[in-house]
Amino acid sequence: MRLQSFYHLEGRGLLEFIPSKFLKLDNVYPSMRTIKIFDTTLRDGEQMPGVSLPVNYKIQIAKQLDKLGVDVIEAGFPSASKGEFEAVKEIAGLGLNAKVCGLARVVKDDIDSAIRSDADMVHVFIPTSKIQVEHTIKKTPDEIVDMAVDAVEYVKSHGVECMFSAMDATRTDMDFLKRIYKAVEDAGVDIVNVPDTVGISTPFKFYEMIRELRENLSVPIDVHCHNDFGLATANTYSAVLAGANEVQVTVNGLGERAGNASLEEVVALLYAEGFKTNVKMEYLVETSRLVERLTGVKMPPNKPIVGENAFSHESGIHAHGVLKDARTFEPGIITPEMVGHRRRIVVGKHAGRHQIRKILEDAGYIVDDESLSLIVQKVKELGDKGKKITDLDLFAIAESVLGEIKEKVIDVEEVTVLTGNRITPTAVINAEIDGRKKVISAIGVGPVDATFKAVSELLGRKIKITEFRLDAITGGSDALANVYVTVEDEDGEIFTARSAGLDIVMASFDAVIKAVNYLMLKKRKRR
Ligand code: KIV
Ligand code: ZN
Repeated sequence: MRLQSFYHLEGRGLLEFIPSKFLKLDNVYPSMRTIKIFDTTLRDGEQMPGVSLPVNYKIQIAKQLDKLGVDVIEAGFPSASKGEFEAVKEIAGLGLNAKVCGLARVVKDDIDSAIRSDADMVHVFIPTSKIQVEHTIKKTPDEIVDMAVDAVEYVKSHGVECMFSAMDATRTDMDFLKRIYKAVEDAGVDIVNVPDTVGISTPFKFYEMIRELRENLSVPIDVHCHNDFGLATANTYSAVLAGANEVQVTVNGLGERAGNASLEEVVALLYAEGFKTNVKMEYLVETSRLVERLTGVKMPPNKPIVGENAFSHESGIHAHGVLKDARTFEPGIITPEMVGHRRRIVVGKHAGRHQIRKILEDAGYIVDDESLSLIVQKVKELGDKGKKITDLDLFAIAESVLGEIKEKVIDVEEVTVLTGNRITPTAVINAEIDGRKKVISAIGVGPVDATFKAVSELLGRKIKITEFRLDAITGGSDALANVYVTVEDEDGEIFTARSAGLDIVMASFDAVIKAVNYLMLKKRKRR
């Protein structure tokens, strides 16, 4: 019975689980407020170990964030280095729609740098928890309040917007927290930020905390949640329910230690729960991919909303349901198209007949019931051996069962790849494409990139390598390399293939050629 009523709820998510005594819903539903998005990818995100963005990368990301529609971009910590100062100044000069913010400690030099960087807003912060105060600034509570107030007044005296953060707020004595936020409010601060600096809070605790602060303050409240216990998105959302007006997030959840609340998760969740933001969700995946590429921090395939598998289905039961109506095994309220993603039905040992038939028929194969049974059996056998099954594997199995002759769109005669410290990596391909001989050369940032570009030239159409994985199967410099690629063409058609070999470049080339050949054949068969 209980389970049944659960299913019939109209999906208010987390809200359903908050004991009613904690909830003051009057200003939560039904008006469904607009929540401002403060993006700190270029500041907290860049503080992630191993991430360091040159100014031109920061500019590219800032432009993308602006296209995405975030309200504020925290572009950096201007006093931290010359490069940081330059980055904030350059971004502030781009004329973006988003406000540009610079971070500063509550000290004059930091604030002066932030003001000189022409940021629209200065975000000042000071530690307030006992543990941080004792081990860092070593000031009395009165001194801390005075420093905060002086900093806010100093920023405001320059006619610049000011945000104030009590760092480590979630481990700070609540009375002191209320006192310092009230003091900066009286000093003219524009917005206060409540950081869960070490990600220690939980949705109920954070809800209570923000509710209490909301009752005590008139200025807008912003929250900044870290993900140390994997609760950053949940905590951010419960703060919104408690009355927070703005949320700090980073693209892909980048940030110190386990990172910050991820922009894509928070924005999608707010949408799903009926709140408004100014974010154009169709650019979420595009933004995530850009940040992934420029920071070098690869997203796991199961990352919500933007991960490669966020809308992929392998199990037969799920795929069967999804082929009928995607809402059977997806949240439904968010479709892949809405966030700039795509749905994939993937082959694997859990795959069912319907799904394999659908994939094969989409590729132009005509499969009778008996052949299909054999193909499914072979796929499962491969999967049981621990093999990740690519599209190429499935089609090879289908062809062996159906007895089809493999045609080739591209028949490669010779490939030469040049690389070295004094030459630009270059690939030359001599091949027959649809029976016509062609010799193509292309350069790239490395030998593999040059070969991929040459293949694209050879085809005369743009192809993207959306996934490229290289594993050394055996040890040593003569290790056997296993290359796994996903190729996407101009129409968004994708194809996965694999190749193995002792030469990384040749194995990569071979995998791409196989993928491209099948992708072209698949299209032709369908036509
Ligand atoms: O995590 C934190 O407390 C911060 C502050 C500077 C807001 O990043
Ligand atoms: Zn932080």
